[in-house]
Amino acid sequence: MSARVREMTAEDLTQVQAIEDVSFPNPWTPAVFAGELSRDDRVWLVVEDAGTVLGYAGATAHLSESHIMNLAVRQDVRRRGLAAALLSELVERLSGCGVRQVTLEVRERNAAAIALYESAGLHGVGMRPGYYAETGEDALIMWSDEFDAPGESARLAGLRAHALAALETFDGRDAPGTGDELVLAIETSCDETAAAVMRGGTELLSNVIASQVDFHARFGGVVPEIASRKHTEAIVPVVEQAMAEAAVALGRESLGFAELDAIAVTHGPGLIGALVVGVAYAKGLSAATGVPLVGVNHLEGHIFANMFAFPDVRPPLVALLVSGGHTSLIHMPGWGEYHTLGETLDDAAGEAFDKVAKVLGLGYPGGPVISRLAADGDPHAIDFPRAMLHSGDYAFSLSGLKTAVINHIRHEREAGNEIDMPDLAASFQQAVIDVQVAKAVRATEECGVRTFVLAGGVAANAALRDALTSALEACGVRVAVPPFSLCTDNAAMIASAGTYRFRAGERLGLDAEASASMRLDAL
Ligand code: KG4
Ligand code: ZN
Repeated sequence: MSARVREMTAEDLTQVQAIEDVSFPNPWTPAVFAGELSRDDRVWLVVEDAGTVLGYAGATAHLSESHIMNLAVRQDVRRRGLAAALLSELVERLSGCGVRQVTLEVRERNAAAIALYESAGLHGVGMRPGYYAETGEDALIMWSDEFDAPGESARLAGLRAHALAALETFDGRDAPGTGDELVLAIETSCDETAAAVMRGGTELLSNVIASQVDFHARFGGVVPEIASRKHTEAIVPVVEQAMAEAAVALGRESLGFAELDAIAVTHGPGLIGALVVGVAYAKGLSAATGVPLVGVNHLEGHIFANMFAFPDVRPPLVALLVSGGHTSLIHMPGWGEYHTLGETLDDAAGEAFDKVAKVLGLGYPGGPVISRLAADGDPHAIDFPRAMLHSGDYAFSLSGLKTAVINHIRHEREAGNEIDMPDLAASFQQAVIDVQVAKAVRATEECGVRTFVLAGGVAANAALRDALTSALEACGVRVAVPPFSLCTDNAAMIASAGTYRFRAGERLGLDAEASASMRLDAL
């Protein structure tokens, strides 16, 4: 767990530009950065953590006086020594190029930056009035003293020691927070009303789930109108129970809403009528108590469920998200960055389990009962199709498999044969697993990652977990899976992702609305 400073390359420019665009009112354009990088009389550095660029700095390096032109650190990881690390390495390298003195302009009102530069031995020598045209702000011009080598300056040596320690202990997930924030999370995206309280992003104080599954089972699937009504009935007692259990875990008599640091709520994707219940409740609570509100993408929540058993998992990684509504392979190059490599063209994996179970009269949800049956069956008994196995991309198709299973059942019944349920379940399950494993292996190879995480309700399938783990570990990829209890929908995972988003400074306005079709890529 550490960050490092290295030279900037062209591959960094997309991430650099993303930081630039939100850091300055008048950001440099990609063409300016590309031009800068192509020059050999410049020094450009990035600070990165496992492939994620967190900040950058650049300076001229052709005279004995160098102009530090740009220095920025991603907003959610500021005040953690990364700017000092960039600055001290920059000065070190400039000195190696013959530079003896550095200068820069800084916004007069940017007290944090001025303090950093002062700690590096720079001092203000004058003002440039109205230098920042966009805002009319004045610039403070700063110069360092002349130095022969940065090591000779006590100030620079001190800055360097501080910077090295900051890099070494840097952990992308404990971003600006205090480390002991209390976050209440609320999840109502489908058919579970759930609430959890978490401290410091890792310590789960309570985790309450009221499942409506019994109300939906007789319809063989989730009925949206019933889901909304049941959420409305359950949300108050579920949140109250989560708060009461958290108080007990803290050894206190009670925990008041005003003592929370944040309220995190799933605001998409999911059933819109179900999501709005949680979002409206959370907004009301936030408005009444003044506690900040944070919106969490349900799918990011599923990915964060991995942090409970594998707290040191970190990007870059590939995630396979398999739930009742999704089947996607996702490349996650850094925290909060998602690129969907491919997804299902028709049914989701969990949906296939549910539909097959329905045809077999096994009730809803189908995943748990089919995987139990499959444990006693022969996965090679029936040769079901493995759609898209060789498609060369990351798309999935599961509706053909469902039809093949239905046809097989009809055929056997017509022939008067008794259906071997364990064999059928195991063969169906294996057809699903084979395609997922093959595509997961290829995705980690193509993305060049050494970490893989499984997420979503279908992650509770033991055979899928085992198959992925053995195939990927054979390729040298580390595999994380969520605890069985946190695979299907819950609020603990929303609390985990919510704490991360809270620390990154994200807030949901009271005018925000739930969205049924929210994508990870747009985060
Ligand atoms: O993530 P989740 O709780 O809800 C959505 O966000 O969709 O996933 C529910 C899905 C259901 O389709 C259920 O059948 C499936 O996860 N599931 C399983 C298993 N346990 C739950 N699928 C296969 N094997 C399981 N053991
Ligand atoms: Zn889910």
